[in-house]
Amino acid sequence: EFHKEPKALHLASDGAFGRFDKQQLQRGFQVYKEVCSACHSMNLVAFRNLEALGYSEAEVKAIANQWQTEVPSINPDTGETATRKAIPADHFPSPYPNEMAARAANNNAVPPDLSLITKAREGGAAYVYSLLTGYRNQEGYRNEKGELLLQKFPTAKTPPNLHFNPYFANLNLAMPPPLASDGQVQFADGTRPTVDQMAKDVSAFLVWTAEPNLERRHAAGLAVAIFLLLATILGYLAYRNTWAEAK
Ligand code: HEM
Repeated sequence: EFHKEPKALHLASDGAFGRFDKQQLQRGFQVYKEVCSACHSMNLVAFRNLEALGYSEAEVKAIANQWQTEVPSINPDTGETATRKAIPADHFPSPYPNEMAARAANNNAVPPDLSLITKAREGGAAYVYSLLTGYRNQEGYRNEKGELLLQKFPTAKTPPNLHFNPYFANLNLAMPPPLASDGQVQFADGTRPTVDQMAKDVSAFLVWTAEPNLERRHAAGLAVAIFLLLATILGYLAYRNTWAEAK
């Protein structure tokens, strides 16, 4: 294994009592919208789901209208599909009409749908964060055991149009560094948009897209734990009561 384990990432949604930081999720959405959506779809997320992040109905409508979505009818004469402005009920579409177009634009790789990416990849949000901030030069790269890549594989060279990233399983990926400089996104809440901040925020956002009901799950877990605790205490007291005079 030559790739690196993800860096630590601490999010408000971590742990059994974790809750989403909605300000952060809104910033993360802004990063997705302005950067990632140029290549990645989110097929399982509808625009109207954004209301859970605190956007109003009107804001969601305005956001949806910035996307085009394909109309399912095909012109029988030309074979062309038509597009229309997206509405809140639509899902975040792919910017490419089909897989071939996606490959053609990305050095033969397909940008995966991001809806479930924090569940699909080992390391989850920490992996996404590490990947986004992990691009570097291959020379002098050592893995966790301190082995020099070029010493072990002297002919290992990042192929043209791929990008070296030690957090990616096969080290070279087709995605160019999407967050390349501070200030790429201007955050509405005034947070300083460093590369690190943008990467953290979009990773937090992708935790929400993959599990929007996380807070409800945590709340249910807490209620169940309290119930079981009370039931255990009651059960113990009942036991004591039953056997109190049996000595
Ligand atoms: C792959 C996230 C922007 C093109 C990926 C992967 C993630 C990701 C998590 C999967 C890596 C894996 O398979 O383990 C993001 C995020 C972005 C972003 C969060 C915005 C901050 C972009 C942009 C482009 C792009 C703007 C196009 C210029 C690709 C491609 C792949 C990919 C082609 C497949 C790479 C391969 O398999 O070699 N991205 N991405 N991404 N992304 Fe992005």
